[in-house]
Amino acid sequence: MLIRRTLKKVAIVGLFALLLVPGLESQAYAQHELAGSRDASSKQGMVVAVSPDGAAVGAKILKQGGNAVDAAIATAFALAVTHPSAGNIGGGGFMLIHPSDGGPPIFIDYREKAPLSSTRDMYIDGGSRKNHRYVGVPGTVRGLKLAHEIYGSLEWSKLVEPAVRLAKDGFSMHAGLAGSLNFEVKNSINDEFKRVYGKADGTQWKSGDRIVLKDLGATLDRIAKQGTKGFYQGETARLLVEEMKKGGGYVRQADLDKYRARVRTPIRFKYREYDVYSAPPPSSGGITLAQMMGISEQFDLKSKGRWSTETNHIMIEAMRRAYANRAMYLADADFVSIPKYLTTKSFAKYLSTTIDLKRATKSDSLGPRITEEPESKETTHFSVVDKNGMAVSNTYTLEAAYGSEVVVRGAGFILNNEMGDFNGKPGVTNRRGRIGTPANIVEPEKRMLSSMTPTIVGKNGKAYLVTGSPGGRTIINTVFCVTLNVLEFGMSAREAVDAPRMDHEWFPERVRFMGADKPRFATLVKELGAMGHNVQDTNGQGDANTIMIKDGIYIGAADYRYGAAAGVMGRQ
Ligand code: DON
Repeated sequence: MLIRRTLKKVAIVGLFALLLVPGLESQAYAQHELAGSRDASSKQGMVVAVSPDGAAVGAKILKQGGNAVDAAIATAFALAVTHPSAGNIGGGGFMLIHPSDGGPPIFIDYREKAPLSSTRDMYIDGGSRKNHRYVGVPGTVRGLKLAHEIYGSLEWSKLVEPAVRLAKDGFSMHAGLAGSLNFEVKNSINDEFKRVYGKADGTQWKSGDRIVLKDLGATLDRIAKQGTKGFYQGETARLLVEEMKKGGGYVRQADLDKYRARVRTPIRFKYREYDVYSAPPPSSGGITLAQMMGISEQFDLKSKGRWSTETNHIMIEAMRRAYANRAMYLADADFVSIPKYLTTKSFAKYLSTTIDLKRATKSDSLGPRITEEPESKETTHFSVVDKNGMAVSNTYTLEAAYGSEVVVRGAGFILNNEMGDFNGKPGVTNRRGRIGTPANIVEPEKRMLSSMTPTIVGKNGKAYLVTGSPGGRTIINTVFCVTLNVLEFGMSAREAVDAPRMDHEWFPERVRFMGADKPRFATLVKELGAMGHNVQDTNGQGDANTIMIKDGIYIGAADYRYGAAAGVMGRQ
């Protein structure tokens, strides 16, 4: 059964590669096919994304002469169709762009904003987040359009069109999507979600079934033809606001009118000879990553070895400290002032001196005050590099899997529930991981704090490693592990992505480790335990779809879920 499913998947991906990436070299194709699409290499360009169809759309745009930003935009729209749990037009995210001409990398912030009518205590009563009340003002369409205005080289409509076709003509789903939809449709309380994403005859989806998303296709068509007006004004906006009013949501036309994506300066820091670029506020990713990498750099981790107790103790202690500072200071920098020293080498050096090399630090001794004793995951990351070396690292999300599960009636797209990323209970910070510190409290038009960490490492002015991940607060630690695996331990892209990851978030006071149940790591887990770390097993952490550029070859490594690496493999 498993073998049959695997063969089917390989066959489906192979077919897409043949249809959509013409001129494929037979040898490269064979490699792609054998690897079940998780690995690809090319000199021409690369897209690594969670969905084979999404990756193939991006690869086709590269093949047609589009640059990495063109391909990223087309991939993002395609994923809004083929990866509905996180790919979106009703959510938000971040795009980091490393130009090929030696110019400075730029960051496009298209994070959702709090509606104008938001209040500080609007979520104080908690409860389910799968409803209209948790919807933030969507940013994706404005963000992708802004990226296009700055760097796009092909016509906008050409980049949206593949998504229109996928939605209107339908696409064949893989087993992962079928299982995920069956689960969500069964458990959702939203009728329109059930109607749009359920199977018309009421039976279960299975691998190879075709799903058509007619209303979504019509909305994407409006976006293709009218640009941002096709989403923030006219028919789409009218349907969105109607949906909000009907379900008790807060987003209104005035919110849509006021929403703007922003160009920001990425967080930049050195790690040995490398230049690391990552997400600035309203993401906590770059600042937290800079501290963890900065602390790590103070120790010669390479000589200690990747799986030594010392290395992993230092990594956990770096996580603990950086996440305590995250809880204390980080939020939307348009609203709060964030200390500049957080990303400096001297601060990292100071933090490293507070680590006891023999014992775990108690999290209570760090970060904000605990005020109370007694808190689903889905986002997606893709990486793109074009033939000239321009690189794009994009992470975007609906927040939870399928966001709020509110499908805009008549417009067919799913809305986010990103408002849950604010500190919903002001003043309540507890040992279970709830954070109620002042910085990230709801205010009208504020962007909620994110952990999304699209990252590009540069070497001699050229992009060298493009990575990022979903996974809520674990994201920053996933990026930390992958980046350190490459920069410090010299792993290949595949090794770095496959290596088991760790996660410590200051609170809860525990380390989740993907290798904890493996005999290979028994001694490590035992020794960390003896130092006072509470190490627990975890099934998985993140989905780091990564590209490494080595000696002019683009090496794509998709993660272990159903990611696909689609290389552009014409004659070289
Ligand atoms: O912006 C954030 O950090 C979260 N809303 C991301 C959610 C997420 O990664 C869930 N996915 N696995």
